[in-house]
Amino acid sequence: MCGIVGYLGSRDCTSVLMDGLEKLEYRGYDSAGIAVFEGKEIKTVKTRGKLSAMKEKLEIEGRPIGHCGIGHTRWATHGEPSDVNSHPHSNGRVTIVHNGIIENYAELKEFLTEQGYTFLSQTDSEVVACLLDYYYSERNPGRAITETIKELRGSYALGIIFKDFPERVYAARRGSPLIVGVGEGESFIASDIPAFLKYTKNYVLLEDNEIVRLDAEGAKFYDVHGIPIKKEVQTAEWDIEQAQKCGFPHYMLKEIHEQPDVVQKTLDSLVKDGVPDFSEIGLTDEMLRGVHRVFIVACGTAMHAGIIARYAIEKLARVPVTVEIASEFRYMEPIVGEGDLVIVVSQSGETADTKAGLELAKSLGAKTLAVVNVKYSAIAREADMCINTLAGPEIAVASTKAYSVQIASLYLLAFRFAYARGIILESELKRLTAQLCKTPDAIRRVIAQEDECQFIASQLINTETLFFIGRGFDYALSLEGSLKLKEITYIHSEAYAAGELKHGTISLIEHNVPVITVATQSKVLEKTISNMEEVKARGAFIIALCRRETTFAEGTVDLRLNFDFGGLDDMLVPLPTVCALQLIAYYSSVLRGNDPDKPRNLAKSVTTE
Ligand code: G6P
Repeated sequence: MCGIVGYLGSRDCTSVLMDGLEKLEYRGYDSAGIAVFEGKEIKTVKTRGKLSAMKEKLEIEGRPIGHCGIGHTRWATHGEPSDVNSHPHSNGRVTIVHNGIIENYAELKEFLTEQGYTFLSQTDSEVVACLLDYYYSERNPGRAITETIKELRGSYALGIIFKDFPERVYAARRGSPLIVGVGEGESFIASDIPAFLKYTKNYVLLEDNEIVRLDAEGAKFYDVHGIPIKKEVQTAEWDIEQAQKCGFPHYMLKEIHEQPDVVQKTLDSLVKDGVPDFSEIGLTDEMLRGVHRVFIVACGTAMHAGIIARYAIEKLARVPVTVEIASEFRYMEPIVGEGDLVIVVSQSGETADTKAGLELAKSLGAKTLAVVNVKYSAIAREADMCINTLAGPEIAVASTKAYSVQIASLYLLAFRFAYARGIILESELKRLTAQLCKTPDAIRRVIAQEDECQFIASQLINTETLFFIGRGFDYALSLEGSLKLKEITYIHSEAYAAGELKHGTISLIEHNVPVITVATQSKVLEKTISNMEEVKARGAFIIALCRRETTFAEGTVDLRLNFDFGGLDDMLVPLPTVCALQLIAYYSSVLRGNDPDKPRNLAKSVTTE
């Protein structure tokens, strides 16, 4: 977590850094700061709080005026969010910003204290500034960096400036992402491309243990020993519009609205001649035929996409699928090996636990397939095969469009799996694919029901606790609906398989407790309706998300949201339905006065365990 930026060029550095940090705020937002050369002096401004607090501080303390500097937005790991723990950190002749965790910081701190260094903050990061200063001699920053990184354990992306070199920015990484933006007469470093997309689409990926130096001549790259290396300049496929709010009040709302298009784009990229085709990424029918078991390993919303996939793959391809929380999988000594396919799902492609799960699966001999939205991410590059979802940059912390493209591509995988194993014929493969290709329209129709979702949200304004229930795909979707709601509204919410509620949790149902029932699956509709009656009998306030034609006994349902899925197979309706759940969560958050883009305590990209 945490976002770092750096700039060297002729623009106003403070504006470039602040713009960049705004795009990286999804990585953490409990404090922020910048350090900019004003002539030969470094001026640092930093504060606890979001970037808005930083903007106020810049007004009060004055904006640093210069052309070279570094910036940071933080998600605290070591030391509470406070002005002093905010980055940048300086010690001696060095100022740094850091993303990651220095695991051996305590022993380094002890050593540096013995050498006479004193520390101002409780962060692990400050030891890096000290260590760089310790190794800095004969005006040789490169050597200070190579010596320092040899001693660091853990993960880091570092932006570094040396007081003696007002026209240079250095950066190094291991484990945490760092991208170098290559412009005309200007260069950037950043944790993610949107931070500099406004200025250049050309970028270089810094690999583990590599170092970059930005100076008047551009960006120069070095290996861990300081030997110059050549790097390939790539061009980002993302546009700046994709990383802007474009008139929407929040990124989250914009990203919800983008879903029909990004699902379409993702489907178009994976469907050839009317059928799913994964041959380009090396996933052949022969390989799918040989799979004994599937494991889906992921965190958060991506893990919920995995649960939908489990229902789809098992139903269609008749292969056993287990969905594992990545942080559990990596330590549970899983029985995984040859013949197994391990699918890791991740929007960012850098979630630490998911990445560790991938590495473990590979080491155990399983085939690995990543479903990732950031194609230059570590997970995308490490997996044997990778489906690149095309949601574009997702900036709101609560994931929306990434979930939709994940499930869209996993449905295609389920179809191909079933075909490869001879369970469905080509005609059925084509029919299912054509059905899935109709989902963007169905999504559009649900998003057009935004006002109704807003009305439902208004009915939850005084709610402190609520439940989601559903069966089958509806249950899998309820898990995501509940997560979305609780992460941005702070309402206590639980999702239950509708049939499971009476095994304990029904004791929590009392007068007016809202129960949002997702009831779209015909096969289990009657059962779900019985469960609704059970909670109604105990006073629940029932909100039903269902097809227009579904009928309930009088008095069962207090509020209903009717869908027209346009004849979609039941299995595929989670795609449009999730949009309603996202909109209900979004409006509940806004009506409570929260910032849905930056929910408290969360960060989007979780690069620590
Ligand atoms: C964090 C985010 C979630 C996300 C999860 C997994 O917890 O807040 O929205 O689902 O990480 O992230 P990934 O990038 O691996 O999908």
